[in-house]
Amino acid sequence: MRVKTSETVSYEIADGVGLIELYNPPVNAASHDLRKGIVEAVNALESEGGVDAISIFGAGRAFIAGADIREFGKPLHAPTLPDVCLALENCDKPVIAVLHGPTLGGGLEVALSAHARVALDSLQTGFPEVSLGVIPGSGGTQRGPRLIGIPATLDLATSGRRIGAQEALSLQLIDRIASGDPRCVAISSAKEALAGSLIVRRTGSLKTVPDRNAIADASRKLAKEQSRLFSPHKVVDAVAVSTGPLAEGLNTERALFAECIASPQRAGLIHAFFSERSVAKIPERDATPRKVSSVGVVGGGTMGSGIASAALLAGFPVIVAERDEGLALRVRTAVERNLSGAVKRGKLGEDRRDAILADMLRTTTQIEELGEADLVIEAVFEDMDVKRETFAMLDRICRPGAVLATNTSYLDINEIASATSRRQDVVGLHFFSPAHVMRLLEIVVADRTEPEVVATGFDFGKRLGKVAVRAGVCDGFIGNRILSHCRKAADYMVMDGASPYEVDHAMVGFGFAMGPFAVQDLAGLDIGWAARRRRAPNRSQQERYVSISDRICEAGWFGRKSGRGYYLYGDRTGPNPGVEVIISQERAKAGVVAREFSDSDIVDRYMLAMVSEAAQVLWEGVALRPADIDAVHLFGYGFPRYRGGPMHYADTIGALELVKRIERCAIEDGFFWRVPPLLRRMAETGQTFAGLNQAA
Ligand code: COA
Repeated sequence: MRVKTSETVSYEIADGVGLIELYNPPVNAASHDLRKGIVEAVNALESEGGVDAISIFGAGRAFIAGADIREFGKPLHAPTLPDVCLALENCDKPVIAVLHGPTLGGGLEVALSAHARVALDSLQTGFPEVSLGVIPGSGGTQRGPRLIGIPATLDLATSGRRIGAQEALSLQLIDRIASGDPRCVAISSAKEALAGSLIVRRTGSLKTVPDRNAIADASRKLAKEQSRLFSPHKVVDAVAVSTGPLAEGLNTERALFAECIASPQRAGLIHAFFSERSVAKIPERDATPRKVSSVGVVGGGTMGSGIASAALLAGFPVIVAERDEGLALRVRTAVERNLSGAVKRGKLGEDRRDAILADMLRTTTQIEELGEADLVIEAVFEDMDVKRETFAMLDRICRPGAVLATNTSYLDINEIASATSRRQDVVGLHFFSPAHVMRLLEIVVADRTEPEVVATGFDFGKRLGKVAVRAGVCDGFIGNRILSHCRKAADYMVMDGASPYEVDHAMVGFGFAMGPFAVQDLAGLDIGWAARRRRAPNRSQQERYVSISDRICEAGWFGRKSGRGYYLYGDRTGPNPGVEVIISQERAKAGVVAREFSDSDIVDRYMLAMVSEAAQVLWEGVALRPADIDAVHLFGYGFPRYRGGPMHYADTIGALELVKRIERCAIEDGFFWRVPPLLRRMAETGQTFAGLNQAA
């Protein structure tokens, strides 16, 4: 007979074994109901006469994927996860945890509190807490070292890396690997424990082997590599006390965990976790995606070959069309280089790379050969006439029902689609360079794009392992539109007195891996130059225009690829002295007297520009939710993850204060600095972007 102890936990007795089954779909997160159910089931089975051993296992696809992240930062209700762990560890009867699928963080801590651990091959385990801004808070930093030692615990808990069953076994994190379904393994393992062939012991009663060097090494390494992050350092502090009595160690761990919970980084990282997942909730999610089993790419430059590489890595056969044999050959070389990079990063075996190149990639100079592909992605030169010509051709040659995608990063997709007789099949798939590495994919929905074509884009993005975000048509969509606004703010600061290097330094201090000027050098300054020329006819007379970057391009300095841009590359590195000259000349021409900008002035203005354009993008419906804008910046623009994204960051300042700051800037330049209507409304009503996310 099965007894339910809560909505998500039940137990039964089979052959003298008490079986605790967890079922909290989708991933058995340790919610309050699950915790309560486990404690009640353990108590009931402990006092049950006919039960000699207890096994705990998960139904569905996980043992326990971790603490319920949605509860972080809210008041906790007993029993807490540490209570659950103590109930299991102190149980008088042997308790065996049977682990399968995700067994992460709090899930692993529950497992560590059992008296033995048996895993199935599907196990995926580790302490990912640092990626959420916290530390293991239910004994992981105390029982981990007792079981697998200080170095291995530090490695897992400071990196957050996830390991499989084999590695867990070799670390002795688990006692054995078994096969079968979790319930059967639960029964057989308990019997083995009773027969003495599976050793049972309380992890908490083991002694941690002291290792001061490992602690010191970890501290040094973190100070060097992760100095900005808060929680990894707390992991080290917690593990350091694991050589003392368990109860004291658990108290220290809990106090450090509470510090992390209270930190803004925890809020930012958890927001990032949910943003990554919420972007898939699109209005078209009920539409059935079209079947995609082959991909065509038109144009094999950097973007085209990157897109081809991404699709090949995801298992799609790909055919790339180029204009002539020489270019087609270059595509093959570029894809080979990309795949070899994946081999180096450990993402792909050499055999698999060779097989992909031999069997999955085809290049052609005959675009007609793309006619049978299910999805064709255009990655030709960024020019409306060229794009329209390409789409008119695709319209003639592609099979009915094929999805026709453009990788344009700025252009009007409605205009591109109108070159075809099937506007419903046209969608934007905006990859970010390098396309096989960057996780962001903007899916740009044009006026007539059919829901199932949008759904196909999202399905394809998922298969490529991308974070796909829905965007509407406008110049630059979500990401590049906001970026170009921020760049104007950066240019204005440079014109008014900051150096590009001060701007970069301040933004790196904020948490970006590179500053905006170094990024432009990397992408190629000619790209922005072309975009500015394209927009020139539509530029308002009132707009302040800074010509510094144009002058740099006129000098033939296009950034990294030409050895010189804002910075020097090659033998000499550092700021390009020629840029300083251009800046002085431009300031003199405009009669500007340079003034000083502190790091915080720079960050304020740059972020203010980002938030205000983002609010406008939301207002216009180009982005569905604030979280979508955050995801775009986190996965495509190097926004520091621990800050959650620009909209999350904006909430830490508040709409009222943001409006005041924009109004202050508007005194100088009322054209660029305008309070977006959405932000004004939020300031008046006390609304937050987090609130808008929830309402969406
Ligand atoms: N708490 C609450 N919800 C969780 C969760 C957790 N620990 N882990 C996953 N979820 C939710 C996700 O938000 C998602 O919800 P949604 O469908 O409403 O968007 C759902 O479970 C499925 O997760 P998803 O990530 O989309 O599925 P997946 O199969 O790709 O990956 C995991 C599953 C468990 C590997 C992944 O979700 C994960 O890594 N979770 C975090 C685990 C973690 O950090 N645990 C430690 C906490 S102490």
